[in-house]
Amino acid sequence: MTRWAGRRPTVRRLPSADAAGRRRRGFPVTGATPRPARPRPRHPGRLSLRRTAYAWRWRSFAGKLVRRARRPLNPWIGSRQMKLMGNEHTTIAVVPDVEGIRGSLMEHGAVLLRGGSTDIGEFERFVRTVGGEPLEYTERSTPRTSVTDAVYTSTEYPADASIPMHNEASYSETWPGVLFFICATAAETGGATPIADSSAVYRLLPQRVLDHFAEGVVYTRSYRSDIGLSWQEAFQTEEPADVEAYCKTHNQEFEWTPDGLRTRHHRPAHQDYRGRRVWFNQANLFHASSLSPDIYETLMEIYGEDGLPRNAYFGDGSPIPAEDLSAIKAAYDTASFAFPWEPGDVLIVDNMRCAHGRQPFTGKRRILVSMTAGLK
Ligand SMILES: [Fe+2]
Repeated sequence: MTRWAGRRPTVRRLPSADAAGRRRRGFPVTGATPRPARPRPRHPGRLSLRRTAYAWRWRSFAGKLVRRARRPLNPWIGSRQMKLMGNEHTTIAVVPDVEGIRGSLMEHGAVLLRGGSTDIGEFERFVRTVGGEPLEYTERSTPRTSVTDAVYTSTEYPADASIPMHNEASYSETWPGVLFFICATAAETGGATPIADSSAVYRLLPQRVLDHFAEGVVYTRSYRSDIGLSWQEAFQTEEPADVEAYCKTHNQEFEWTPDGLRTRHHRPAHQDYRGRRVWFNQANLFHASSLSPDIYETLMEIYGEDGLPRNAYFGDGSPIPAEDLSAIKAAYDTASFAFPWEPGDVLIVDNMRCAHGRQPFTGKRRILVSMTAGLK
């Protein structure tokens, strides 16, 4: 008798079909029925082995299900939630699907959708769905190739050169509101598209530079057929009258030269945008200092300063000193954030909120771009 025996409750068993058999076998029908102890096999029998194997397989399968449910669909995202990447000045929202694009773009200025298709037709449909009718690339400043009516190659510069940070077409009176980049082929090395928050760039600039640019920027361009862009390519027309009409409606001075066309126009250096002051110009990109020294020397020798394909000055027409350009570059360097492209990545950039550039690369990098006025 164990010490628990006294505490075991007496159970009055109800008569049942089984009771008759029990009575015949001499067992009491009422009161506690001692259950004979079931001998435990010292070694698991065949059935136990089967049960153990079944339980192990079920636990393994259940574990797999749990792990699969927990596994992120996109390794960058970590879960089906939006994640952020960047630095203290610039943030890119990595969103799991199109639902979060509008809010994230408003808040952060740049959004990355990862793990999509590299099919350009699909990309164009996506742009039309999210951004509306794509814009044509007018008043071009860099060579590009049209892939479709709405999709262009990104700027075709030599792979070993960087493209300075800039806001698209900020030298013009009209510019795209939203840029859609897609990575069709990632570079072997380098080739990132750094992003910099334009309000951070403005904040990082020394006050003396902001004061110097208080009157804006003067952009000069010299279009010729032998170097840079011809006026036909830049304005996408063969008709001089179309160019003249464009210049008149966009407040540009123009002058036809024996080699082509020369223009000069004035634009602000920074603007208010959604409650922020943003650095929004291409003074650093247009300025002759963005050319390599040997190309600059050669162009100056052949064409002179007025004949440079493009150049930039302060709003009053005075030259921009090297220390101001260095300060702009330093502000962009501090604010910018770059991530490695993966095929199928789609980067959506609020053009007024964020500047972009390009790092040197090796390999067959293919980043395409489409532009819209905004989001639908
Ligand atoms: Fe660009």
